[in-house]
Amino acid sequence: MYNSSQILEKFNEALAAVPYPDKPAGLYEPIKYVLSLGGKRLRPVLLLLSYQLFRDDLERALPAALGLETYHNYTLLHDDLMDEADKRRNKPTVHKVWNANTAILSGDAMLIAAYQLIGSTEHGHLKQVLDLFTQTAAEICGGQQFDMEFESRMDVSEEEYIEMIRLKTAVLLACSLKTGALLGGASQEDAGNLYAFGINIGLAFQLQDDLLDVYGDTATFGKNIGGDILCNKKTFLLINALRLANKEQAEALRSWMDKKEFDPAQKIQAFTSIYNELQLKQLTENKIQAYYDASVENLKALQVAPEKLTILKEVCDHLMHRQS
Ligand code: IPE
Ligand code: IPE
Ligand code: MG
Ligand code: MG
Ligand code: MG
Repeated sequence: MYNSSQILEKFNEALAAVPYPDKPAGLYEPIKYVLSLGGKRLRPVLLLLSYQLFRDDLERALPAALGLETYHNYTLLHDDLMDEADKRRNKPTVHKVWNANTAILSGDAMLIAAYQLIGSTEHGHLKQVLDLFTQTAAEICGGQQFDMEFESRMDVSEEEYIEMIRLKTAVLLACSLKTGALLGGASQEDAGNLYAFGINIGLAFQLQDDLLDVYGDTATFGKNIGGDILCNKKTFLLINALRLANKEQAEALRSWMDKKEFDPAQKIQAFTSIYNELQLKQLTENKIQAYYDASVENLKALQVAPEKLTILKEVCDHLMHRQS
């Protein structure tokens, strides 16, 4: 079995070897740019770790891992445009270096490349893997649409929020783990448990992302802090702030959300103060822990030797305490 840094190294080598045409440069340069900026490579690492629970010949699972990471990066190009985010992985986003049309079209080309890569998976598993990926990609569109619609709604419930992050984020982690299991020849039951594990880890992961968007450090997080606050994203923090706020805090939040013109730093400061007063960091951390605990139960249900799970558990432990 490979450890997670060996897996990451193998994956990055394979990713760097994926060929893209030179022309039109305006279409392919942005793809090379975003893929060269790294990132955690979480989805392919989860896929390959899951595969490794059942088989050792990692190379067989690489095309699908490459496809899912390429797909993830495509979602980032479109997401940054939709969220008006200027920075990712400590570098200017594609629509900032180039423009909005580039983020759209290079993103589309990445989605196609993702299908090509996943499609080169060997035939025995191809249909199941493609069906799962297609379903996942459609769900993510749904999640992203809810995320955008929630910006202008004031009555988003915690339940609706959890469903939105399940769709926009958790299903891709779950899909990665299940794809690894399917390719590895796991039983349907183990594949299902790894999917459920991915959902719980994915919910915890997006909650942590929301938390870092307020309390993280730009240099390590690689994204601008307060982006969610500026566009009134209904994050776990904001939903609970609206629920727990006293009259004065509620009025302050509402009046900031209604403003069309404002000083960004002041709005971020005002929201963060209210989040602090309401101790929302702790509340979010408790929620993250609850999903993490649930994910551990999913792993326990697997029919694999417990010692094989060590690396996967380490990666998830690390994720729960991540700052980037
Ligand atoms: C960012 O994903 C989008 C979310 C689901 C929060 P990651 O945090 O995995 O981004 P990279 O790939 O490591 O940059
Ligand atoms: C990301 O959600 C979900 C997808 C990219 C599909 P966010 O909008 O919170 O991700 P970041 O914070 O920009 O990475
Ligand atoms: Mg975003
Ligand atoms: Mg977004
Ligand atoms: Mg975010």
